Amino acid sequence: MAKTFSITTAIDYTNAAPHIGHAYEKILADVLARYHRLKGEPVFFLTGVDQHGQKVQQSAQKQGIEPAEFAQAVTTKFVALWEKLGLSHDAWAATTDPLHKGVVQKILQQLFDAGEIYKAAHSGFYSVRQEQFLTDKERGPDGEFGPEWGEVNEITEENYYFRLAKHRDWLLGYINSHPDYVTPSFRQAELRNAVERLSGDLCISRPKARLEWGIELPFDAGYVTYVWFDALINYISFAGYWNGSEPRNAEFESRWPALHVIGKDIIIPAHGVYWPIMLHAAGFTDAEIPPLLVHGYINIAGAKMSKSLGNIVDPAVLAEKYSPGALRYYLMRETATGQDMEFAEERLVSRYNTDLANDLGNLLNRTLNMAQRYREGVLKRPVADTPWLTEGRAIVEQYVAKMDQFLVHAALEAAMGLAAKCNAYIEAQAPWKLAKDPAHAGQLDEVLYHLAESLRLLSILIAPVLPDAACGMAAQLNIAPDAPLSAALDPAAALADGHILGKPTPLFPRIEAEAKP
Ligand code: MSP
Repeated sequence: MAKTFSITTAIDYTNAAPHIGHAYEKILADVLARYHRLKGEPVFFLTGVDQHGQKVQQSAQKQGIEPAEFAQAVTTKFVALWEKLGLSHDAWAATTDPLHKGVVQKILQQLFDAGEIYKAAHSGFYSVRQEQFLTDKERGPDGEFGPEWGEVNEITEENYYFRLAKHRDWLLGYINSHPDYVTPSFRQAELRNAVERLSGDLCISRPKARLEWGIELPFDAGYVTYVWFDALINYISFAGYWNGSEPRNAEFESRWPALHVIGKDIIIPAHGVYWPIMLHAAGFTDAEIPPLLVHGYINIAGAKMSKSLGNIVDPAVLAEKYSPGALRYYLMRETATGQDMEFAEERLVSRYNTDLANDLGNLLNRTLNMAQRYREGVLKRPVADTPWLTEGRAIVEQYVAKMDQFLVHAALEAAMGLAAKCNAYIEAQAPWKLAKDPAHAGQLDEVLYHLAESLRLLSILIAPVLPDAACGMAAQLNIAPDAPLSAALDPAAALADGHILGKPTPLFPRIEAEAKP
């Protein structure tokens, strides 16, 4: 049996509503999951929400409600958005789930018993207002902690620490011997530098006196777990790591390790330092360390999105206004995986109109119209493979090569290159002229077949990004929906002689510019 393609996303904080950056990450993972299903592989796609932590507790307090209620209200927004955007996840990670809490506690206990977790006292400057210890980084130019920190006291607090430093050399060795651990590779270089500088252990507890909204330590009821220690474990708890009395089972083994899709802000230290060391300390082998796919940021006007700047772009509003497909296509086509991208609503509109309404939509429309008008929709297949058909399959191979490297934007570029080629071919061949001369009947049949067959390939290639439109295209071409990728590579799967095409209906209606007030 083929190994499962497992893919996870970061789980989103439930301290605030979803934004376009969250949507980008989830769509990227969804497209990769759908692409692997298209390849015929079993897929396990996990996403979810990170519901614990101080920020959630504080946001709830501000509203005068319980953290559970607050987290649930925000979770509902994420769930509704993912449904609207067509996410095809197989499992949902919510960290308040009792199953997850149980796994976190079992792992804590295991690490505690193995001596990987110890208790120690820490003295330092504590901001009562921000509820956190401050370091010298937080001091202003005058050496003092600024007014934003409120009352700052020097206190001593006992906490539990996870032995990170002890595993530093192992992690460095792992990174050096696994050049494909992190994609893109410049992020792996950054990680290696950070690990070289690593010193000290990780505080993994918070006294309940200052944080209650978390998972209780199984060996000390006076504390809850630090939110990252809790959140990272979602990747294994929701993949079935500890469902019964013992960890691991065949299902988990088939799903692990998963590819982790995360943003650039959470590789150092959480995913690139804490997580591999947590797994290593818990007995995972080097072959079981999950690879990281690190994407860039979606920015607005050069600024990182933030509520205070008032530049939150609501993905639910965009999907409602333009269609989920338009948003999915724009984010995937305009973001080079690993790089930042500048969000601009007018680019979303122009991408949709140029690529989907004009290039692809018109191509489908013109082809079906001409086939109906000149041949009542009936195709004649050339007796032998033509160079045109071979070139079409070469474009599919380019698409595959790019998708296999997670370069969705480049794969789409290759696919849309085929649409552009078809449109140029129509202009050059002028089927309306060929139709006037019976001596060109054979050539007209060949042109129509080439176009229809290219559209069949395109209907398969767009499926991971535009699943609904792919079905719509298949219906108009009168072929079965959900064809596998192999049907775009195998000459035997080409449209049959005598195949009858359907009637055209607009698939990508143009987005008209908003009337200026
Ligand atoms: N809860 C943690 C992740 C825990 S994973 C075990 C967290 N949550 S988050 O809501 O702040 O971010 C969730 C994901 O969205 C992260 O991968 C983050 O990088 C990504 N993004 C947040 N803002 C983003 C943009 N503006 N652009 C692209 N992705 C961004 O971190």
